[in-house]
Amino acid sequence: MVDNNATLNLGEQSLDLPVLEGSCGPDVVDIRKLYAQTGNFTYDPGFTSTASCESALTFIDGEEGVLLHRGYPIGQLAESSSFMETSYLLLNGELPDQDTLNDFTHTITRHTMLHDQLRQFYQGFRRDAHPMAIMCGVVGALSAFYHDSTDISDPEHRKISSHRLIAKMPTIAAWAYKYSIGQPFLQPDNSLSYTGNFLRMTFGVPAEEYEVLPAVERAMDRIFILHADHEQNASTSTVRLAGSSGANPFACVAAGIACLWGPAHGGANEAALNMLQEIGTPDRIPEYIERAKDKNDPFRLMGFGHRVYKNYDPRATVMQKTVREVFEALNVTDPVFETALRLEELALSDDYFAEKKLFPNVDFYSGIILSAIGFPTTMFTALFALARTVGWVAQWNEMISDPGQKIGRPRQLYTGPTQRDYISLDKR
Ligand code: SDX
Repeated sequence: MVDNNATLNLGEQSLDLPVLEGSCGPDVVDIRKLYAQTGNFTYDPGFTSTASCESALTFIDGEEGVLLHRGYPIGQLAESSSFMETSYLLLNGELPDQDTLNDFTHTITRHTMLHDQLRQFYQGFRRDAHPMAIMCGVVGALSAFYHDSTDISDPEHRKISSHRLIAKMPTIAAWAYKYSIGQPFLQPDNSLSYTGNFLRMTFGVPAEEYEVLPAVERAMDRIFILHADHEQNASTSTVRLAGSSGANPFACVAAGIACLWGPAHGGANEAALNMLQEIGTPDRIPEYIERAKDKNDPFRLMGFGHRVYKNYDPRATVMQKTVREVFEALNVTDPVFETALRLEELALSDDYFAEKKLFPNVDFYSGIILSAIGFPTTMFTALFALARTVGWVAQWNEMISDPGQKIGRPRQLYTGPTQRDYISLDKR
């Protein structure tokens, strides 16, 4: 894989560093021997120019707005695949045939139930607890229930833990919503699809049959596909770093959930809809665009911008199309959608956003769809976490399966006090 060398001149030293070439995307300069041979670290807060690992799962071309899962474009997967099929693809590397997909779906379906004692965990939360706080707690607690599958060196243990996490996230998320509105929990119904089961557990009630609307089921399933994995984003990197210490997968995913919650990351879908509702009508958009451009104002257009995409986020394109499909299926409209379309139009015609290459990202339109389906904004990031769990466990498996993987332990540029002696209290 070594393609050529980079030469680093450091004082009197001249160091040849291997340049590694992947199957597509930027080459990397392999600096693993830099500190041992020069006593210097590299410096890259925020990892804007750092490849933390080698991966074969997801490829993003930020300039071209390309997102591939195991080589398949996200637009094709969103159009033609299902979340279960895309989950199998991410975990195993190839699209399954029908029998394999049926077996995988059956396995996941039969792990959707939660240990009955986990109900008690919900009782400890206030009814107005944010669902992400509940998700962090309940997912972390799963490790206390599955001592039969936490030997991460055993591929079978890794497989069953991965399946349990993918399968149980819909139940955990649906119950977090039910708990917040004081309605009874519904047990999974194995006769339904993964996504249909989630919709029923979320919106169904014991007193009557819940009808899963095919158009809503399809839209929800597509939203899960769009959120499944996204290279080494902050929460995935959190899961990898936690996993590198040998922590069990339930604890690692709980760490990923905590990181995803931030408004700069997965929390942006909730923040974006709140922002659009605060803006209200299109006539107020210029005021908010000016605020977003004002360096003295911390306000940012939520759902805009991306560390990697410097062109349109391909997921936002699919998401915008899905808004129209859901509105038509539910025969609803939402003035917020018109505001969102107008905001996008005005922002993209403004030099500030064009110069900084700020486009709508996956979070800009998703909230409008979720709101139309009936989710409160507080559930939006929990849905992101539900879908991203397959990406987290696939990335975790890829790392743990690498015999050469080491514990992640970055260094620093130290700018604190140099050594000094302790001063007793009476002398200060
Ligand atoms: C997700 O990494 C992933 O892949 C994440 C994700 C995934 O699937 O896992 O794609 C999901 O997290 C999507 C992003 C959701 N976050 C938001 O929508 C929050 C709003 N956007 C930002 O805060 C910001 O754009 C980030 C955090 C997404 C990216 O930040 P970067 O890459 O660190 O860029 P930056 O903060 O250095 O901004 C570059 C410039 C700055 O101006 P200058 O200091 O250069 O003058 O652009 C400005 C920023 O002020 N800027 C914005 C802006 N985003 C960046 N200005 C106004 N509104 C914005 N939204």
